Amino acid sequence: MRQTLVAGNWKMNSSRESIKILLDGIKASISDVNNAEMALCCPAVYISDVSNQLEDTPIAFGGQDISVQESGAYTGEISGGMWNDFGCKYVIIGHSERRTYHNESDELVAEKFETARKAGLIPLFCIGETLEERESGVMEEVVSRQVNAVIDRLGVDVLGEGVIAYEPVWAIGTGVTASPEQAQDAHAFIRKMVSEKSQVVADKIQILYGGSMNAGNANELLACADIDGGLIGGASLKADDFLAIGKAAN
Ligand code: 13P
Repeated sequence: MRQTLVAGNWKMNSSRESIKILLDGIKASISDVNNAEMALCCPAVYISDVSNQLEDTPIAFGGQDISVQESGAYTGEISGGMWNDFGCKYVIIGHSERRTYHNESDELVAEKFETARKAGLIPLFCIGETLEERESGVMEEVVSRQVNAVIDRLGVDVLGEGVIAYEPVWAIGTGVTASPEQAQDAHAFIRKMVSEKSQVVADKIQILYGGSMNAGNANELLACADIDGGLIGGASLKADDFLAIGKAAN
């Protein structure tokens, strides 16, 4: 039985003040979430606030990106050791926004997967196709290429130490969600391609859905056999919505 994981990705949103209000709201009713692990990935500058405010709660937290370097002259970068220093459990890697705006290649994302594992962090490894790719029928090819980049570099067992987040780019921040059938089909395909390398890893690896998951559609999506949780953007910035997604797994 795979544990459901509902992870928030705040992206470049929030402020010290809004975080305090949001986390107070989430903490007040987190005991109503009884079947999902909840996690929040925040902007680096707020990691100290978040780690302090989530102390003594079951809510995990993490970062949104990681440098492939351990330390040194890399202005603006954040190392795995730095995330670790604040008690982070997770780090997002390969988000489509970083692949697009920062030209992150499959190979670089695979390297980040490795760096995260070396630092003891669990990578939330994002994959997914653009609308153009879906419409031209290459979704399976795209996600296979993205997953295989990690398997080729590190082996399938190391892939199994992370979490996959299937985030169709056309559903991110658009309010357009993949239908439960579309999402389930993609997740089942990803699990099947992993199973060709290792059935053990395919059975255990959590595959989250990301792309406009919200309080209204979480029930249907989380009911799908191969959807093991969600990576939530906009709805993770509202306590009631984020909690509702967590409770949908109850
Ligand atoms: P939205 O939930 O805002 O569509 O964002 C999804 C996402 O990109 C999570 O990483």
